[in-house]
This record gives sequence, structure tokens and C-alpha cells, in this order.
Amino acid sequence: MTTVIKNGTIVTADLTYKADVKIDGGKIVEIAPNLSGDETLDASGCYVMPGGIDPHTHLEMPFMGTYSSDDFESGTRAALSGGTTMVVDFALPAPGQSLLEALTMWDNKSTRANCDYSFHMAVTWWSEQVFKEMETIVRDKGINTFKHFMAYKGALMVDDDEMFASFQRCAELGALPLVHAENGDVVASMSAKLLAEGNNGPEAHAYSRPAEVEGEATNRAIMIADMAGCPVYIVHTSCEQAHEAIRRARAKGMRVYGEPLIQHLTLDESEYSNPDWDHAARRVMSPPFRSKQHQDSLWAGLASGSLQVVATDHCAFTTAQKRFGVGDFTKIPNGTGGLEDRMPMLWTHGVNTGRLTMNEFVAVTSTNIAKILNIYPKKGAILVGADADIVVWDPNRSKVISSKTQQSAIDYNVFEGKEVTGLPRYTLTRGVVAIEESTIKTREGHGEFVRREPVTAVSKALSTWKEITSPRKVERSGIPATGV
Ligand code: URP
Ligand code: ZN
Ligand code: ZN
Ligand code: ZN
Repeated sequence: MTTVIKNGTIVTADLTYKADVKIDGGKIVEIAPNLSGDETLDASGCYVMPGGIDPHTHLEMPFMGTYSSDDFESGTRAALSGGTTMVVDFALPAPGQSLLEALTMWDNKSTRANCDYSFHMAVTWWSEQVFKEMETIVRDKGINTFKHFMAYKGALMVDDDEMFASFQRCAELGALPLVHAENGDVVASMSAKLLAEGNNGPEAHAYSRPAEVEGEATNRAIMIADMAGCPVYIVHTSCEQAHEAIRRARAKGMRVYGEPLIQHLTLDESEYSNPDWDHAARRVMSPPFRSKQHQDSLWAGLASGSLQVVATDHCAFTTAQKRFGVGDFTKIPNGTGGLEDRMPMLWTHGVNTGRLTMNEFVAVTSTNIAKILNIYPKKGAILVGADADIVVWDPNRSKVISSKTQQSAIDYNVFEGKEVTGLPRYTLTRGVVAIEESTIKTREGHGEFVRREPVTAVSKALSTWKEITSPRKVERSGIPATGV
């Protein structure tokens, strides 16, 4: 059974051209004009693009005394409905827990996925056991990324020596460390002070973690990666200070990647001043929303290439869960949704405004991260041999975002009431139509785990450079006698 996507314009990270796409066995088998097949999908007036890859989700994540409410079924349904065909979630060992045991827990949850997925492994503590298990995670389990939290003191946070040890291990294994960059010690102290002063509302969450706190941690993570000789990927880059650190490091030749979220690009700090407690608490996430100046910096980074990826950090809590923090903002579960809205919001506020080209849109929603994670061109490409993870994008379809019509399991949407223009006509996951305009045709369990091999071209280049420039003892003849 072959499928042909006909009459569309193919848009990739570097090309825009008219051609049909033929799919067989879940893969792209031909790209040419005037193709025919058993089934035809009409793409007239549409762009045929690689499906989105969201490299930052937390589905059914145990966090702050509860679980995020979208699981792998509703989360990947939301993803597909918005044109995203692959998610990368975080397996989080509790401090002291085996990485392999945590991975088994995430393997069990992901059996319900409607689209393909992969995992990052978090390093939340350090020991000989973690050191050893990292190798098994990379070599046997197909995971080449390790996440480090510099925030969430007393829970997931690791300190500098743990991070340095883990980054060195990443360098040996050809893996990529990821970092949540906020100074967790300062955040914890500022939170306690704010609470003691009676500042207990959701706005105090933002007061407790200003942009400088993120900028400092980003600089520190980059320095540690440089010392360890590995690349580094900064998740949810939200402000100019962090972007500046990334930009500066890249200008010095370091392999540093930055990931703004669609929420930080389009929502700002004024949300926390809303007189409605629920409204503000629903938008509590780390880092918090910032000012318009920070947003401008992030958009500029995407256009100029100093920031590479737009993600969501989808971590959805219901209003009832957010209310755990009434009277104490530090107990509001941190996280917001966005999986269904990332592509339409970015197209509307990026491509439709001229901030991004269509090709840049594809790069930052799919191709760049596929390359960084070493799954290109299986994912992130419209090429013969690639997986047929494709979105047929109708630039004229509009809707108003509403929690009443969303796929996510929660009872609100942080983008509620925003009009978007640019939506999927079809979303295909390995050749299977999962979305046809507003009709959901997802198949629970269709999603497969995507293995990601280590030792990328970047990590090879870095280890060669590290070897050439490593400190060497100067051999001397005639060493003077020890002074007295
Ligand atoms: O507030 C957030 N971002 N929640 C999810 C966990 C994390 O820090 O990524
Ligand atoms: Zn320590
Ligand atoms: Zn984070
Ligand atoms: Zn996250």
C-alpha cells in the first residue's frame, strides 16, 4: 500500500520546491513530480515539511509531589494534532536510584505513545554506579544525552563537581550533556526570603529567579563543558543573559546549543500580575516568563543561528494541581503545556511576521535537533529513505486556541484565546495519517522508541582537539637541586 502526497510545495531546512512525495512501508521512497500510488493526499496550497520534533517534554513525570497530567497517550496525541511527530522525554532517576531502573519505568509509560519518541537520561546524583551505568545507557540503550539540573535544590539539583564528573564521562562516551541552567542555591535562598516577607503568590516565583540567575548558571555550565571537552545543550533558554553566554561561547568556537521555548517567545512576565491567582499559577514554570526585551533577544537568536531549537518543555498540571501552592508559591508544581501549539504559534508569530523564513522554521522545529541528537536524516528530513514523519501544512487554516478543543488532558491552555494561522492539514507518523484537519486518527501504541547513537561528528572533533591541546609535562634536563 503506497501513499502519495500530491500538489504540494516541499519545504526543508534549506530548500523550497514543488514535488510529490511517495511513501511505502513508513518511509519516503520517491520525491518527484507527477507520482501516483494506492492512496493520494492532496497538498494543494500546502507546504510539505518534516514533522516537528519536540526534544523537551515531561509526560507523566513525578514532580513536586504529583505527576504531570499528560501521559504518553494524550501528550503524543496533542503533539500530532499540532504537527509534531516525535518527542524526547526525560527519564528521571530519583537521587540514589539506578539509571537503568528509571529507564524501565519510562519504557513502561511510553508503550502508549501515538508517535515516535526517545529519552534523555537525567543525572540527579553521582557515584561509581552512575558512572558505570552511563556507559550501558549509551551503548546498550541507545540514549546519547544526559540532563543535569542546576536548580531544584534538595531534589534534582547537582552541584559543580558532580556536573564536571558527569560531563567528563559524557566526553568519554561521545554523549551530549543537557543543562537546566539556574543557580539553585540563590533561587532557594531568595524563595525562602520572599516567603518570610509574606510574598507568597505566584508572582513571587518569578521574583525568586531573575534573568541574572539563569545567565550566571549558563556561563558556569558552558565553562564546565569547556573544561570537560564536550559540547553542551542549554534547555529552555529564556533570557538575554543566557543567550549572551551562548552567543559568546559560540563566537569563541565552542559547541554550545540553546533551546528557547515557544512559551518564552510569545508570553511575557505580565501574566504573573494577573489578579486571578489561578491564571498566574497556571503559568508558573522555571525559568519564568520574561520581559519583551528578552523575547526580542530570543527571536534574534533564532534568526541569526545563535539559538538552534524551539521546544515546549511540555509539563502540564491541572488547576487543581497548581492549587497545591495556594499560600506558598514554592509548592506550585512548575510547568506549562505547549505540545499542540508550538508549531502553529511559531508559524504565526515567526513566519507570518517575517521574523523567520519557512526554511528557518523547519530548521528550528525539526532538522537542527535531529542533527544535534544524531537521528538525521531518519528524522527531520524530506529525503528518500527518511521516515515518513511529515506534516502537510496549510498556511491559510486558522483557529482560536481553546482548552475546550485541545487534546491535552488539562483544563486550561496558557495560549487560550490566541488566534493562529497555519495548521496541519495532515500529520503523518511513519506514513500513517494520524491527523486530518480536525479529525484525530491516532493509534495508541503506534509510536516506537528511536535509538540514538553516540560519538557524533561534533564529539569526535572535540575529543581530537582536546587530545591535541591537553596539558603536557615539559621534559627538562638539568633540574636544579631542591632549594633549602
Ligand atoms: O518548570 C518547568 N520547566 N518544569 C519542568 C521541569 C523542568 O525544569 O524542565
Ligand atoms: Zn559536591
Ligand atoms: Zn528545566
Ligand atoms: Zn523540562
